[in-house]
Amino acid sequence: MKLLITGGAGFIGSNFIRYILNKYSDYWIINFDIVSYCANFENLKDIEKNPRYKFIKGDICDEKLVNKIFQKEKPDFVVNFAAESHVDRSILEPKKFTRTNILGTHTLLETARKYGVKKFEHISTDEVYGTIKKEEFKETDVLLPNSPYAVSKAGADLLARAYYKTFGLPVLITRSSNNFGPYQFPEKLISLFITNLLENKKVPLYGKGLNIRDWIYVLDNCSGIDTVLHKGEIGEIYNIGGGNEFTNLEIAKFILKELSKDESFIEYIKDRPGHDFRYALDTRKIKKLGWKPEHKFGEAIRKTAKWYKENASWWEKIKSGEYLKYYKKQYKNL
Ligand code: TYD
Repeated sequence: MKLLITGGAGFIGSNFIRYILNKYSDYWIINFDIVSYCANFENLKDIEKNPRYKFIKGDICDEKLVNKIFQKEKPDFVVNFAAESHVDRSILEPKKFTRTNILGTHTLLETARKYGVKKFEHISTDEVYGTIKKEEFKETDVLLPNSPYAVSKAGADLLARAYYKTFGLPVLITRSSNNFGPYQFPEKLISLFITNLLENKKVPLYGKGLNIRDWIYVLDNCSGIDTVLHKGEIGEIYNIGGGNEFTNLEIAKFILKELSKDESFIEYIKDRPGHDFRYALDTRKIKKLGWKPEHKFGEAIRKTAKWYKENASWWEKIKSGEYLKYYKKQYKNL
């Protein structure tokens, strides 16, 4: 089986590639990635030379190149991870998100329709639903995304569905909750907080830190994506949630404790504009396929903190980059 993975040099994509190569000895992978700021060749150093792995650099919006890849490689499955993924960046540069996430996905869908694929799995997010005070989002709920990022993901998600409904493209969609784990770019809550504390810096908590997210260890999301790819019903959408709901303040306290720091390391800062209060997913549908999260939250956080401690050279290089300083400055000016 040949898989075309887009965005495979990013956080979830690189974890997924490693997961698939380990699990299926007869699967071949083509990783198509633009390698923008948050992607990193070092994420895949250990498998670079694997004979069942091939890398192609490029943009999912580049029709000519995407056509060439489909024509030449004839993938059986496509798994589309490629996306701009950080909400704060989407507040600063919204159009970039529309281009990559909507137009890029559209280009892939159209090309997959032209050449034919066995399955096209689109990786979406729980953020397409918007925010929910009580209870949990079901796959059939109305989409009310609030940030430019979430809107761009909702657009891509709906286009993928339309390609199933209108053209019969064998589409599957997963919507996962907030991921954490090794190789996450240090701009998201958990990766940023762990690395800041390892540098003896404070952790910036938006507002009062009372917003709630449902966290999933990245390998549990990978097994969910794999389950949907192999057992999911074509044309269906599946939520993938870890069932670990915590306020950001609770998360900060877990990490502080893990790294032996006290609460004086928390810095409360101005809230994110349009900040969604809570995300929560009903995961009964994917559980019917036999999937469940295998990693306990506390252990997974410990494992993640250990990984960042042991792989300081990976993130120190990233964090010393000028672009992070630039984005921080822009954000303060909003
Ligand atoms: P994030 O990791 O950016 O994911 P998302 O916004 O897609 O859910 O943020 C998770 C939560 O943590 C969100 O409520 C915003 C908050 N947060 C902070 O309080 N400080 C930070 O520095 C970051 C990056 C996020």
